[in-house]
Amino acid sequence: MLTIQYKTKFSADAHFLVIAANIEAALAANTLPVELKNYLKAELEQPNTNAVTTNYLGRIASVLIVDESKELYVLKEQARQHGASVADLVNQVKGTELEITNVSNATSLALAAAEGAALVSYQFLHHKPSAKNAASLTTITVVHSNTSAKEVERLSTVVEATYLARHLVNEPVNCLNASDLAAAFQKMGKQAGFSVEVWNKTKIKQKKMGGLLAVNAGSVDEPTFSIMHYKPKNAKNKKPYVLVGKGVVYDTGGLSLKPTPNSMDSMKCDMAGAAAVGGAMFAIAKAKLPVHVIALVPATDNRPGFNAFAPGDIITMMDGSTVEMLNSDAEGRMILADALHYAKQFKPELTIDLATLTGAAAAAIGQYGIVGMGTATETQKQALKVSGHNVYERIAEFPFWEEYDELMKSDIADQKNIGGPYGGAITAGKFLAKFTDYPYFHLDIAGPAFVAAKDSYRGKGGTGVGVRLLFDFFANLY
Ligand code: BES
Ligand code: MN
Ligand code: ZN
Repeated sequence: MLTIQYKTKFSADAHFLVIAANIEAALAANTLPVELKNYLKAELEQPNTNAVTTNYLGRIASVLIVDESKELYVLKEQARQHGASVADLVNQVKGTELEITNVSNATSLALAAAEGAALVSYQFLHHKPSAKNAASLTTITVVHSNTSAKEVERLSTVVEATYLARHLVNEPVNCLNASDLAAAFQKMGKQAGFSVEVWNKTKIKQKKMGGLLAVNAGSVDEPTFSIMHYKPKNAKNKKPYVLVGKGVVYDTGGLSLKPTPNSMDSMKCDMAGAAAVGGAMFAIAKAKLPVHVIALVPATDNRPGFNAFAPGDIITMMDGSTVEMLNSDAEGRMILADALHYAKQFKPELTIDLATLTGAAAAAIGQYGIVGMGTATETQKQALKVSGHNVYERIAEFPFWEEYDELMKSDIADQKNIGGPYGGAITAGKFLAKFTDYPYFHLDIAGPAFVAAKDSYRGKGGTGVGVRLLFDFFANLY
């Protein structure tokens, strides 16, 4: 992990980024060589230019001019992306330190740029330690910028949590099975200060988690159910918030096998929801937020081996209801249903699940946002959407009309596990809502969880989507 720190003084020679509302303010902000100053000024005076980045004698120098009349969330995203592009250059010249300062009135832009710079420097090199192009950046320094050391520390925690989530998503199933995922949570709990209880297959059987066991039936590896608990003494909420993450460590589709080629290649990412809630718990606990939060992760791989559950099977779920299982590739809802039922005993203020649940969600809005829906109160939904904009993990709310419930009806069981060809993201959410009796919001992250090509600071591969969203939501609750 790189270090993000706060200072009140500029270095004379560090790689730097200045954010300002106009050219004069930008160039007054630092003691720069006259030659460099003149160059930056001339470039910024070109028409339609709001940013310039140059390599001045080996030193990366960048200025971003922001239009303060724009909405803050737009400016923050601009700063993140610009911070990321500057960090890319610093890494290219093998630089180790980047200083960021902001003299505009939009005070959060220095942190946003630092966030982009830090997140773009993540690399998954666990299995390629010899890589020659490893990111060299070790320190990002926020200078002045009306920022406090505490805010910088929080940012650092959230970045660390996002790195952890990305790492879990990027690990393939032969290195991270359901037990490994649970063990990773235990380690994160020790480090950040939350408790983790892990159920093994025997316990899961005792508890009759029929959905989780059905999906696991075709696997050699045991399922796990992780219960993470964070309850600080100063918790402000009486009823806990519950997070649920889909932990399918690999999704082959089971007997309803996904067609090869390509459709399975990135299915190690099917535990991205689990990684997001684990990462969020890490950040929440490490930042000591005054909230009582519980996170639940049912985990297994989905394979066609042994007694794999077969289309046509009728499964009795943990809540005693029955499901006519007509497609083993609709496995996520089977394991999430048991976790959502288990959550009832906590009488949650709100339960939020994160899941790479449907190709339909990805098909509808692509990788640029999260599909959300549910029975949460309007106030809760609004708060989540505001956080979505704050961190630019935007939530597009889908309808949750009762007509969709019809599509899940079965003649021989309480529900089917698939709807028709239309509204697939919604029918999946409707299936899940049947297992809740509390305010509930479902976040389908199938689009943004894993990206095939580098997308600015989101990187390539696991993006860690959901970690920053959840942290922002809880940090702004009280
Ligand atoms: N894990 C997949 C959804 C997915 C697709 C995630 C693409 C990330 C990228 C999920 O388990 C799945 O297979 N869903 C099916 C449901 C269908 C059978 C009702 C789908 O979307 O095709
Ligand atoms: Mn599937
Ligand atoms: Zn899946």
